[in-house]
Amino acid sequence: MQTLTLTRPDDWHLHLRDGAAMAAVLPDTARRFARAIVMPNLKPPVTTVALAAAYRDRILAALPAGIDFTPLMTLYLTDNMPPAEVDAVKASGFVHAIKLYPAGATTNSDAGVSDLKKCTATVARMERLGVPLLVHGEVTDPAVDIFDREAVFIDGVLLPLLRDFPALKVVLEHVTTREGIEFVRDGGMNVAGTLTAHHLLLNRNAIFAGGIRPHNYCLPVLKRETHRQALVAAAISGSPKFFLGTDSAPHAQSAKETACGCAGCYTAHAGIELYAEAFEAAGALDRLEGFASFYGADYYGLPRNTEKISLRREALAIPLSLDYLGSDRLVPLRAGESVAWRLE
Ligand code: DOR
Ligand code: ZN
Repeated sequence: MQTLTLTRPDDWHLHLRDGAAMAAVLPDTARRFARAIVMPNLKPPVTTVALAAAYRDRILAALPAGIDFTPLMTLYLTDNMPPAEVDAVKASGFVHAIKLYPAGATTNSDAGVSDLKKCTATVARMERLGVPLLVHGEVTDPAVDIFDREAVFIDGVLLPLLRDFPALKVVLEHVTTREGIEFVRDGGMNVAGTLTAHHLLLNRNAIFAGGIRPHNYCLPVLKRETHRQALVAAAISGSPKFFLGTDSAPHAQSAKETACGCAGCYTAHAGIELYAEAFEAAGALDRLEGFASFYGADYYGLPRNTEKISLRREALAIPLSLDYLGSDRLVPLRAGESVAWRLE
């Protein structure tokens, strides 16, 4: 039997939600990951350090006893976040980044940025203080094909942004295209990217395999196979610019299996195991630890974890659904199938 031992990993992009939903999903992440960058797209969004402090307290209060887990908080950038809020972020010690959602790009992004030019003073302060900007990198123009929105965003928004703020720390989150990989690769060491397990494992055919598959629908949407191969190559390259971010994004079954279903794949139940599958398929299990446990911490200027976890190569059956909100269930990725690795 094959066992894989690695330094306890971190998740550099996670949706925990709030209230009962958060309490339902938090143990899945906390059992695997030592820390996670927690997305601020709540309703209402987490726009101030004070709101982030209160959200952090709610997460810590919901943590099962005996599990060591540190939520790393983020703020939600709006058109009118004052530069002084960036000073408060820097001084807080528990808010680690600010997230850019183009208004209307995805779940709970209505309060996001309508035009990045409105944020010039705030972004300048971020550059000066070294506060990372986490980017949902898609244009929202409905005239742009949904499969092209990342590439168009890079050319139209990110490259000009980095010309104006060359030292700004930018994480292109959930990179889904070859163009996204090249953008990160060709940028300075201030530019990094996270990769999800589902984008490493699936291409866009998975959304339409034998019928429409709402649980494989996320944003940015899965892309064609050539792009998936570019993501895998980056993940296993050993480049410290690419690191793990699950983008695990729970939505109740009723909100996914409906005429206009929500975007998001729930992967926290097998948050590291799915990556082990992807790296094994690429013959690169020896590269998993850097990607999952070292490079993200290094980028954020945080200490690497010291504890270890072990994975055993043995099929883990995934239930059809998980407890979530009363009678409303949560359908995880691979529901009714299995994952090749299990956490010891
Ligand atoms: O699929 C997604 N779900 N993409 C996002 O950007 C947001 C997320 C969510 O919050 O559900
Ligand atoms: Zn996300």
